[in-house]
Amino acid sequence: MPEQQTPAITCSDIVKTYGENSSKVVALRGISLSINPGELRLFMGPSGSGKTTLISIIAGILTQDSGNVRVLGTDLSTLSDTEKTNFRCKNIGFLFQVFNLIPMLTAEENISIPLLLNGVNKDEALERSKQLLSDLSMGDKIGKHPNQLSGGQQQRVAIARAIVHGPKLIVCDEPTSYLDHHTGTMIMELLQSMVRKNNVTLIVVTHDARIVQFADKIDYLEDGKIIENPATAH
Ligand SMILES: Nc1ncnc2c1ncn2[C@@H]1O[C@H](COP(=O)(O)OP(=O)(O)OP(=O)(O)O)[C@@H](O)[C@H]1O
Ligand SMILES: [Mg+2]
Repeated sequence: MPEQQTPAITCSDIVKTYGENSSKVVALRGISLSINPGELRLFMGPSGSGKTTLISIIAGILTQDSGNVRVLGTDLSTLSDTEKTNFRCKNIGFLFQVFNLIPMLTAEENISIPLLLNGVNKDEALERSKQLLSDLSMGDKIGKHPNQLSGGQQQRVAIARAIVHGPKLIVCDEPTSYLDHHTGTMIMELLQSMVRKNNVTLIVVTHDARIVQFADKIDYLEDGKIIENPATAH
């Protein structure tokens, strides 16, 4: 990887607060970072340290109070809501910590949503979804609804939905929390191969020490800040 390239992500002094007055919580206290295209970056840190808040801002789901974020060359704050939604649809795959699958739709239909939003016709979208499910060892689950699937199976459907449209940036919040060792490793290998093959940038939040081996770099968050000396982190 060349030393100097335009970063896929830059954050400068991001601050984010929830609530007001006595219920005010400062979730991020000035986060600055830069992530290269094709990099696999992990965010680790204790519960409540701000990991989900940070990746939600990077993915344009939340807006920071102050500071700047550039994602794939675009400053999201310059976009209208519709432009931001279109940008996210096309360029970003997001795996939520809670999977957010749509209960009325089958696994295959859930996965096809990003393709339909990007104008792929329904038959092709379902075909590609089916193929991806089978790559994830779930070919027999295409017609199942989320409530007919185990936590680990729902997690794989949600992962498939995050990657099916070939986004340039994939953001995963705890992608292996429900998965056994074998399946967790399989998912990380699949994600890593997408990163390597297509120069995708991958951001993963995790508590899972087994994922560390896949990272190009790890940032440790504590109390809304990136800490420089992880040796003291838990
Ligand atoms: N919608 C919200 N309203 C108010 N406070 C919130 C909200 N979301 C998060 N927070 C607070 O912001 C801080 C950071 O939360 P965040 O969800 O980013 O942490 P996290 O590192 O992802 O934690 P976990 O590992 O438990 O998922 C916490 O103190 C949390 O209580
Ligand atoms: Mg979280």
